[in-house]
Amino acid sequence: MQAPVREDALDSHIIVLVGFMGAGKTSVGRALAGRLGWPFEDLDERIELREGRSVGQIFQQSGEAEFRRMEHEALRASLAGPGNVPRIIALGGGAFVQPANAAILEEAGVKTVFLQAPPEELFRRCAEHGTTRPLHKDAGQFITLYEARRPYYLRATVVVDTAGKAVDQVAQEIVERTGTRSTPAT
Ligand code: S3P
Repeated sequence: MQAPVREDALDSHIIVLVGFMGAGKTSVGRALAGRLGWPFEDLDERIELREGRSVGQIFQQSGEAEFRRMEHEALRASLAGPGNVPRIIALGGGAFVQPANAAILEEAGVKTVFLQAPPEELFRRCAEHGTTRPLHKDAGQFITLYEARRPYYLRATVVVDTAGKAVDQVAQEIVERTGTRSTPAT
């Protein structure tokens, strides 16, 4: 059964970070959460905890389509969480480009923030991190996928350039650009 999207998320004290692999969604999300004193959730982590296996294992054992189904369920559950509690949610790189996910985010009235950087830099960051990412293969494939997804990311509420910027600087910029304060308005 699908978890319902709560209407009371409409007050928009939820910031959702989107963008390609290597965009810094998790590290910026943690910094932003620390700055605002809000909880942070990483959607891939929610899936891994629920499944008891890594994203890499899910791709390998169950395939990408099954991962996307889990991702959608996880996003629904995350948005249905405590309605009035402000929070930061980092999505996996493919989540926001799935129309069903974009639709429930819009329905929930959350602020989405696209962390943008040139694909060459993103590729380099992913290679340096050494995390296994099933869709991080060779540079050509990576850049082609980035270009195909970019128009979808650009539909986010706010676009923040991250190239050459420190994590804290990006977090500060998000606070300013989204007009967010550390305590929810009443
Ligand atoms: C994916 C990105 C990954 C993870 C999965 C699929 C993608 O998350 O969700 O491997 O489709 O771009 P990160 O963006 O955190 O690496």
